[in-house]
Amino acid sequence: MSLSARILIGEEGVGEGVKILRAGGIVGLPTETVYGLAADAFQPLAVARVFDAKQRPLSDPLIVHLPETSWLDRVARFTSQRQEDLVKELAATFWPGPLTILLQKHPDLPDLVTAGSNQVAVRVTSHPYFQEVLRQLGSPIAAPSANRFGRISPTSAEDVRIELGDVISLILDAGPCSHGLESTILSLEDNGMRILRPGPVTMDQLKKFGHFSLSESIVNTPGSLPGHYAPRKELHIFESDIIADQAGGLLAFRTPPRELAKSFAAVEVLSSNGDLREAAATFYGALRKLDQSDALRLYAESVPNEGIGVAIMDRLRRASWGSKNKKGHPAGIFSR
Ligand code: TXA
Ligand code: MG
Repeated sequence: MSLSARILIGEEGVGEGVKILRAGGIVGLPTETVYGLAADAFQPLAVARVFDAKQRPLSDPLIVHLPETSWLDRVARFTSQRQEDLVKELAATFWPGPLTILLQKHPDLPDLVTAGSNQVAVRVTSHPYFQEVLRQLGSPIAAPSANRFGRISPTSAEDVRIELGDVISLILDAGPCSHGLESTILSLEDNGMRILRPGPVTMDQLKKFGHFSLSESIVNTPGSLPGHYAPRKELHIFESDIIADQAGGLLAFRTPPRELAKSFAAVEVLSSNGDLREAAATFYGALRKLDQSDALRLYAESVPNEGIGVAIMDRLRRASWGSKNKKGHPAGIFSR
């Protein structure tokens, strides 16, 4: 397998990226959450290339990215004045940034982007590179995380090259992603808001904008499936004490005592002083390193279930489930 994708930085990268996107190609692009695999949302063939490169089922819709809130009416429609007011309030607070909102799809947006659903997931990214590409392209960009379907999301250009370097030709490099975990996905329903995927914008931050429906966040999008974000090696989660394993790799939340660290084949520390934001930013990279280490199996220390820790635990559980259930997802899951 040849990982022949070019990695470019700065203006040259933006210029080349826009050229490829305009011609219906796909490009790896940095966002503030994780790296994305971008296509012009209004070119169905380009969007099809994204699914193909990721080996992603066509039933799993893509997030549409905008450079500013004023572009919303190109891809979505409000269903009521109340909804419009709420979205504008959320946008004023969280955009540009790591919040994705589900809205009614604009009829002109290709159905492939939303996998036939009449809802579109939209977010305004805060990443200056991505914004510049959007503005020069002049069209919204559909972009999932730039990993093969079900695998660990990339938080650096090199990670993208490892995941997709054999099937894409260009990756723009802007260093590591600042948040390191995918955006929070919010659904606005008549009976209240629902978080479909926990992320950097937390439930506590969202609560002041409306009440949350009591129903459990129903697993109805593939990213909310158990087997996502999986390493190749089996991953177990320590709910309380850490148990030594000389053949194991430890994903530690904070620096473990030296003796304990020595009782593992490999150790990656998310944040030496136990800072949850730092842990989120280093999470996927550390998991990827352990997956490539000599360790035969992997263990992760639990992190506090608060703030962005909720999203880290969510990804850990899915990664663990996926690592133990390699045959894929529960039957029928894609037949929506
Ligand atoms: O931070 C992020 O959100 C990153 C960066 C690149 O923007 N993107 C990302 O995309 O995580 P992806 O495709 O890896 O995850 C998006 C999730 C998927 O679980 C998908 O099923 C769900 O969002 N989704 C997208 N559009 C949807 C829609 N119209 N209705 C329901 N779920 C949707
Ligand atoms: Mg993803």
